[in-house]
Amino acid sequence: MKALVLAGGMGTRLRPLTHAMPKQLVPIANKPVLFHGLESIRRAGITEVGVIVGDWHKEIEDAAGDGTAFGLRITYIHQEAPFGLAHCVVLGREFLADDDFVMYLGDNVFGDGIHEMADAFRRDRPAAQVAVTAVDSPQEYGIAETGPDGRVVRLQEKPRRPRSNLAVTGAYFFSPLIHEAVLDIEPSWRGEWEITDAIQLLVERDQDVRAVAFSGWWKDTGRIEDILDCNRRLLDVAQTSVRGTVDAASTLLGPVVVEPGARIVRSHLRGPLIVGADSVVQDSYVGPHTSLGAGCALTDAGVSHSILLDGASVSDVNGIHGSVIGRSARVGVSPEGAGRHRLVVGDDTELEVIA
Ligand code: TTP
Repeated sequence: MKALVLAGGMGTRLRPLTHAMPKQLVPIANKPVLFHGLESIRRAGITEVGVIVGDWHKEIEDAAGDGTAFGLRITYIHQEAPFGLAHCVVLGREFLADDDFVMYLGDNVFGDGIHEMADAFRRDRPAAQVAVTAVDSPQEYGIAETGPDGRVVRLQEKPRRPRSNLAVTGAYFFSPLIHEAVLDIEPSWRGEWEITDAIQLLVERDQDVRAVAFSGWWKDTGRIEDILDCNRRLLDVAQTSVRGTVDAASTLLGPVVVEPGARIVRSHLRGPLIVGADSVVQDSYVGPHTSLGAGCALTDAGVSHSILLDGASVSDVNGIHGSVIGRSARVGVSPEGAGRHRLVVGDDTELEVIA
């Protein structure tokens, strides 16, 4: 079995971060989203991976390389513009040849990986297999309606009147039959070649399309709230490891990861959290579910439930919560004095201040 990983797209919902980096490289628990996916693909026993890349191809190729670091062989496939998930299958045709494959959305994370689903597909070998999970708001997802035997009888994209609460997640398993189906569909109202339409075509052609429910959590990291939630879940299983230095005046509580070269000085750290390599945390509080990237600096600061990307700094500001702070961004106190806010804010940024 091969894998086709989708790492193109626009990432409009993750602006402003995606003005400066592709969404698949946003770090979660200090590791790019994409790497979590590549690791679970390897754990599923797959080594041949095609990665669809768009405008950010250079950044993604520089980060993931030829795949050796993951035990994979990566072939990059360029997509001119995000014409849809089914379009990615068309582009992947030559790489995929006549092999079975998993199509994995490069911004998705499966808490327990995808190996059980891959095993189910290898065992039963249906024409296609979607991974489904029950959700509270089925109107926002692609939804699978299933028969008593687990076969999919219908797929609907964001239905107004959903017939089930089983959302289709970002790991699709296909036999080569999908290649005909993706050529037989038309673009949808939003101008994209939808993979749900191609799978629906297989259903209508009476092919065996299965829905497999999986254990564990799944997150599509399309929005900032999802990134923070995914960060929280990944940190929840972190284990204490201190490879930097912590002075005697600091306290650590709960699972705390301090990466090499990081320094903790007169600070209080309440895990689960991670402090990236060469970061300095001084006279500060770092609360649960916080990931500080490499080379960050906290001075007289308080941060919890947040992600700071590499080189970000916070000084003299407490109560930072539920925040994502971009690479080398600085948060500090205005020299103008109390009651004034001095802001240099990039495009599409969100700020919440006390008026
Ligand atoms: P989306 O979540 O639709 O990604 P997007 O980047 O278009 O997001 P936004 O709506 O915020 O603009 O796609 C899921 C994954 O598939 C994501 O990793 C991007 C990738 N993708 C492609 O590689 N090619 C495509 O044509 C599309 C539509 C998505």
